[in-house]
Amino acid sequence: MRRGSWASRFSFYLLAVGSACGLGNIWRFPHVVGENGGGAFLLLYIFLAFTVGLSILVAELIMGRSGEHGILKISRLVSVQQKKPFYWFGRLSLLISVVILAYYSVISGWVLHYLTQFLVGLFNEDRLTYISSIDMTALKNSGSLQFALASVHLLLCGLVVARGVVERFEKIFTRMLPILVILFIILVMRSFSLDTTSDVLRFLFYPDFSKLNLSSLGRAIGHVFFTLSLGMGIMVTYGSYFKDNEHLPSVGFRVTVIDTIVSIMALLLIFPIAFLSESNHYFTDPALLFGSLPRLFVKIPYGEFFGLLFFLCLWLAAVNASIGLMEALVANLKDKYSKVSRNQATLLATIGVLFITIIPAYSGTLFSKLKVFNQSVIENLDSVLINYLLPIAGLGLIIIFFKSLNDTDRRGKFIDAKGKNSQAMYHHWVWVLKWFSPALIILAIALQLINLIK
Ligand code: PFF
Repeated sequence: MRRGSWASRFSFYLLAVGSACGLGNIWRFPHVVGENGGGAFLLLYIFLAFTVGLSILVAELIMGRSGEHGILKISRLVSVQQKKPFYWFGRLSLLISVVILAYYSVISGWVLHYLTQFLVGLFNEDRLTYISSIDMTALKNSGSLQFALASVHLLLCGLVVARGVVERFEKIFTRMLPILVILFIILVMRSFSLDTTSDVLRFLFYPDFSKLNLSSLGRAIGHVFFTLSLGMGIMVTYGSYFKDNEHLPSVGFRVTVIDTIVSIMALLLIFPIAFLSESNHYFTDPALLFGSLPRLFVKIPYGEFFGLLFFLCLWLAAVNASIGLMEALVANLKDKYSKVSRNQATLLATIGVLFITIIPAYSGTLFSKLKVFNQSVIENLDSVLINYLLPIAGLGLIIIFFKSLNDTDRRGKFIDAKGKNSQAMYHHWVWVLKWFSPALIILAIALQLINLIK
């Protein structure tokens, strides 16, 4: 699964960073932090990102480089070797990635909706009134609109993957990246100058542990998996692209640091605006990002232009993350059915995912009566997938990792010839991966289940 020649060292980083940074950081993280009470949860999250998340990320990258295949094939090889049905873990990862892509496409469709709204706003005579009227009502009332937007997003990703122009897209995205970073910093600074800053700082950085409950651990671990794109074999596929002289633990560490910084910046962007509203309920709503941002753009000169640029960049980031997911799916399909061409595999993946997209897209309309635990279909999908299934798939990946590589292989891939530190780090990493992470994942799932039936 080696990549073409343009792929410099920097671009490999971008692949991993690009898959990690996306809607998970900017859309999902703020409302998960809001839902779980702020500072204490943030602290718990950061701790888990650098223990459970980082250890599994490094394992996935190393497994990909050694196996040079996708997770499906690696798990099948381990099954044959060990004569045990480990291939189920590979299948579970793949199944999750299909459903996550469907879910992710619907949210990307929401971004697309805002993008078009800001575009229309540019041509409106009374721009300010127009921007302040942008909201989610049209989306909430129409499953077909959500499905149509998600389809546009998905078909575009399918087209990029099928035509083999992923690398060209990534180049465009790379050029856009500095704009996104600068825009993000400007917006955070503007948001930070609102009167609510001191309340926000207290909310985010003064940990009140009484706000944590039995589900918090599971929510934090689930989000770590989602935001670092773990448990689905994505990073396994990327690991197979990295050159042999690349020190993968350092790659994993840098990706985790960048992803965490982006997530914290998203909090600093969204919460000062959200705190302007009187209702606390609003913090915990998945519509938090979409509800907040237009209120900031109204206050900025040329806000409609900034808004357009922001949602364009956010959408490109979502396309980038989705393409990674789709590519891994296609690579796994091709591993399994060697006769299938790349185009056929992409078509198969796109149609399959499109079909599943119907469920989250029509969650608020056609399936609005279908409530489990008082939650809508899309909320249940988010929770079951991210808080339960991803961590379980993570456990499977850990098992496959230890079965597919012996201690000498692991050591060889982890320890950097130059760095003396990595010798000591190796033991810490193995301990965290073998004992600490599985124990926390099992505890998190058990606590969530207790909370459910309580
Ligand atoms: N990590 C991405 C984000 O935070 O937006 C989401 C994601 C992308 C999850 C790709 C899973 C994945 F395979």
